Amino acid sequence: MPAMEQNLRVPGPTPLPREALEAQSVPMIDHRGTEFGELLREISAGLAELIGTRGEVLLLTGSGSGALEAAVVNTLSPGDRVLAVTIGSFGDRFAKIASAFGAEVERFEIPWGEAADPQAIAQHLATNPAYRAVLLTHNETSTGVTNPLRELVEAVHNAPGDPLVLVDGISGLGAMPFEMDAWAIDMVVSASQKAWMGSPGIAIAALGERAWTANESARMPRAYWDLAEARKWAEKGQTPWTPAVSVLFGLRVGVRRLLDEGREQTWARHAAIAAAVHAGLEALDLRLVAAPGDRSSTVTAAWLPDGLEWAPFNAAMRAKGLIVAGGQGAWAGRILRFGHMGGVGIDEMMDAVRTMGETLAEHGRQTDPPAAVRAMREVFEARQPAPVG
Ligand SMILES: Cc1ncc(COP(=O)(O)O)c(C=O)c1O
Repeated sequence: MPAMEQNLRVPGPTPLPREALEAQSVPMIDHRGTEFGELLREISAGLAELIGTRGEVLLLTGSGSGALEAAVVNTLSPGDRVLAVTIGSFGDRFAKIASAFGAEVERFEIPWGEAADPQAIAQHLATNPAYRAVLLTHNETSTGVTNPLRELVEAVHNAPGDPLVLVDGISGLGAMPFEMDAWAIDMVVSASQKAWMGSPGIAIAALGERAWTANESARMPRAYWDLAEARKWAEKGQTPWTPAVSVLFGLRVGVRRLLDEGREQTWARHAAIAAAVHAGLEALDLRLVAAPGDRSSTVTAAWLPDGLEWAPFNAAMRAKGLIVAGGQGAWAGRILRFGHMGGVGIDEMMDAVRTMGETLAEHGRQTDPPAAVRAMREVFEARQPAPVG
């Protein structure tokens, strides 16, 4: 029986372009051979361009959480004072990893659903003993909030001791404005299954000069995630351990597509689609979690209406082929989350909002799905970047 067509709208993994799926379904190659070297170098160089760095982008096999671990263990030593600015569950995860490896982690916790305030961070940094590093989240997938990253990084660099800036860029990179070198970010990590249009399996780590200098004296234990080792192998066009070759074949397609589209156009497309999703959900009378200025271009979170139970509502959407994410941790059963990153277009988001509206109606809510879709189209068309040429 053919599988029902799904509209996969979780915040990663994302639906893959057909070309990427086909690229993944090819015979294996020698991961110590020339062809692999070209594959690795091309993706790495493409990603460097897309995130705005002249530094090195390393590709390792693992998930985003592995890349977070790599950021910590390659730059820090046990006992280092670390400030973890957390605005949701992924910020908490970054903090937990640093604690697990012996950093002395202090959490600066922002209420979920809000972004961090650069002035508050600046003040905290100025009135506390120097930290070795500050952990920041670019885009908090658990709440659909984007941090004012550039301003936060500036606050950190102005602080006593000029702490290292380690950024979880997993669900924002590629889709939202991000300039690693111009913003002076020491290290940022991401993962293939997000805006890059790859399958899950490749962890991405970009390091600037200060991160490499820190690496020389960092004493946290590391083996699989030893990036100095990965750097040596990358020079030969290889990875230290056997890589997820098929995932890399698909990822190359995603990176090429983003380069062809152009960074600004990709960012504008994501912003326009996100604005349309926000309008559509609000037209369905759903209240968005994030305040207008903090809303993410890749993930939208909305509160479940009072009295609507998540499990049956979610099951009903899934029965129609619409797959969205629920809340995490304390927000399980309280919010729903839509992913709109990567190769996403407005049509599949309009389908998703329509299906959600119809399911809400079946669950006793007064909604007008066609009106929500019209609202989306209007917002999207008003924001469309001018056609090129
Ligand atoms: C912001 C953020 N950080 C970390 C992670 C963890 O990545 P992974 O699930 O690939 O380990 C995710 C995954 O959704 C994420 O969105």
